[in-house]
Amino acid sequence: MALPDILSRLRLPVVGAPLFIVSTPELVIAQCKAGIVGSFPALNAREKPGEPVMLEAWLAQITEALAKHDRDHPDRPAAPFAVNQIVHRSNARLERDIEICARWKVPIWITSLGARPEVNEAAHACGGIALHDIIDDRFARKAIEKGADGLIAVAAGAGGHAGALSPFALVREIRDWFDGPLLLSGSIATGAGVLAARAMGADLAYIGSPFIATEEADSAPEYKQMIVEGRASDIVTSALFTGISGNYLRPSIVRAGLDPDALPQAGDPMSFAGGSSKAKAWKDIWGAGQGIGAVKAVEPAARMIDRLAAEYAAAKERLLTS
Ligand SMILES: Cc1cc2nc3c(=O)[nH]c(=O)nc-3n(C[C@H](O)[C@H](O)[C@H](O)COP(=O)(O)O)c2cc1C
Repeated sequence: MALPDILSRLRLPVVGAPLFIVSTPELVIAQCKAGIVGSFPALNAREKPGEPVMLEAWLAQITEALAKHDRDHPDRPAAPFAVNQIVHRSNARLERDIEICARWKVPIWITSLGARPEVNEAAHACGGIALHDIIDDRFARKAIEKGADGLIAVAAGAGGHAGALSPFALVREIRDWFDGPLLLSGSIATGAGVLAARAMGADLAYIGSPFIATEEADSAPEYKQMIVEGRASDIVTSALFTGISGNYLRPSIVRAGLDPDALPQAGDPMSFAGGSSKAKAWKDIWGAGQGIGAVKAVEPAARMIDRLAAEYAAAKERLLTS
């Protein structure tokens, strides 16, 4: 099946993954201007009671900035953006946020932690597409049955709520029955990794953790530095902080006064009530995937994307000439 138009005209086959707390409109705008899909979780846009709705303000800011970029640079238009909806029963804002995103005609909807037909229908009604993230083939089949257009395969080593499966196994099983848009995530942090994802059978790479160390990200300077200094061996998997297994930076766990090698088994069940997922836990214990060894400096997102593009071209050239 051909990729939907909206995903096939990118400079690089990459989606900047949504990052709780970390993704800002500035990061999304920089990603889209540099030619990859930028995204943010709707829950990142938070206002105090009585204040104007922040999600509206963010969507206006992004839409206007990308339209201006397109007017100024008709030769290299911005990539489309995506909004992530946490489709979890405790997300009390979901209905409101869907209505706002539909009104702003958000082009790409990313759903996680639950697949619901009405969210996919809302995406389609405003001309958008819906991509659902899954960690195994069973959830992948359910997501497509419920009307998602494409899948994000979250493999082992991903930041946030990572899967446990090898990307080779996961992509292979999905490609046995699904020929629609397939994104792959989990430790992809170089242009060669993006090409490898495509060689394996995915259409695009879904990259999260490296963008935590960009200038536009809303992450503490110490968090950015931990990403720069960290390697795969600095990533600890635990279900303690949100109730679902996730990957975290070992030094941030130590800093919080816990022993990463002797963490209790599980935490309270996850909750997105009030627009935050255990915000305190995510603030103090920092999430990241195993691919961060590729991140060498804090830099503007555009520079990181330029490097990914150059590495991608070089990796292609190397394979074609070997
Ligand atoms: C700090 C952090 C926060 C995240 N927050 C979200 C989120 O709010 N919604 C979501 O769908 N995925 C979230 N993720 C997962 C990413 O969207 C993506 O699947 C993951 O970062 C890909 O793996 P990588 O970090 O190895 O590139 C988060 C990941 C990290 C590291």
